Amino acid sequence: MSGVKILRLRTENFRNLAPEMVEFIPGINCIFGPNGNGKTNLLEAVYYLTNRKSFRKNTGFPQLLSIEGAQPELLLSAAFQGEQDLHSLSGKIQAESEEWWLDNRPEKPRLQIESVFVNPFDSYSFHTSASFRRQWLDSHLGQLDSEYKTMLSRFQKSLRFRNSLLAQGPNSQTKLQLMALDENFAELSAFLTHKRLEWLNKLTEFVTPTFREIFAETHELRIDLDTKFRGWDAKRIFEHYRLTEGDDFESRHTSSGVHRDDCMFFFDGLNSFEFCSLGQQKMSFLSLLFAFIELFRYKLSFYPIVLIDDVSGELDGQRWKNLIQYLCQKSFQVLITTANENFRLELEKIPHARRIFMEHGRPVSQG
Ligand SMILES: Nc1ncnc2c1ncn2[C@@H]1O[C@H](COP(=O)(O)OP(=O)(O)OP(=O)(O)O)[C@@H](O)[C@H]1O
Ligand SMILES: [Mg+2]
Repeated sequence: MSGVKILRLRTENFRNLAPEMVEFIPGINCIFGPNGNGKTNLLEAVYYLTNRKSFRKNTGFPQLLSIEGAQPELLLSAAFQGEQDLHSLSGKIQAESEEWWLDNRPEKPRLQIESVFVNPFDSYSFHTSASFRRQWLDSHLGQLDSEYKTMLSRFQKSLRFRNSLLAQGPNSQTKLQLMALDENFAELSAFLTHKRLEWLNKLTEFVTPTFREIFAETHELRIDLDTKFRGWDAKRIFEHYRLTEGDDFESRHTSSGVHRDDCMFFFDGLNSFEFCSLGQQKMSFLSLLFAFIELFRYKLSFYPIVLIDDVSGELDGQRWKNLIQYLCQKSFQVLITTANENFRLELEKIPHARRIFMEHGRPVSQG
């Protein structure tokens, strides 16, 4: 199965996008145009339609609504090519509510469709910020594994409650409540640790071959979990929380646990942030994202729609060619943007690719 593909999209009041039809092909779609003309906004609209949220942090309805829009609502409508049939999907998003229709009926169950956003600018944050890596890990594993997502949200709720008990200070009641809460908290912690290790192992299996395939690099890439609870069962984690209870009451928060895990990225066994050049960091990060796309297919049996925002910076011309060749061999649908004229010339060489030129949020030429 190769997954659902977007064929047409029209938005109203979505950032600076004009309410005009944009048409896509199931293969490679190149989106060109100078800076600030709506290329990334177009990717964001497709992402929103397929994942029901933005890929930008802390971005919701108020940021997405056009500052010039007359109506306080976003409208999105699209046509998709499914395995057998065509489908229409539309949504009306307002400040307090969202409504979605599949083939003109209230959408239930959801159309099995998702997209992955390949953002090269995230490479820097990924390499420098542990909290960014944690969020990256949680959101990507959540996309693969709905049980992981559910357990993670339970864990986060328990963590908030646990911290509120710790903030009240030690007394017979808070100590009893903490002990009762920790049984489940330890179980959730053991589950999440096990899942993270399992998925990161799988991701590692894909990442070195992907690095080789895209960038012709023979280096070994590995992504590993830095966790206190590796190999611990729920009982041992529960005991750990009994031992650290006094310290936690003193600091008024949960000082250790899966919320402090990190995922380390190794390049030939060396920490990639300390060792790699900027170009190598970017290639490694892009390989990780494309490895995730392969893992996605391995788990869900279909490819997501792949949205690639301008990857040209820091990569040399040969790497551009390799990446384009890799995309041409794959059966997933690609929407790729660039403002770089030289990269545009490379993308223009792709046989049968669609070209969409954006100007002031409008697709001025398509074909
Ligand atoms: N809510 C909004 N309403 C109207 N316009 C918006 C809104 N949010 C952002 N914009 C406009 O969208 C434009 C940015 O669009 P976008 O990020 O898609 O550009 P781009 O073509 O990807 O540029 P670049 O090549 O620099 O990445 C800016 O001009 C900005 O003013
Ligand atoms: Mg952009």
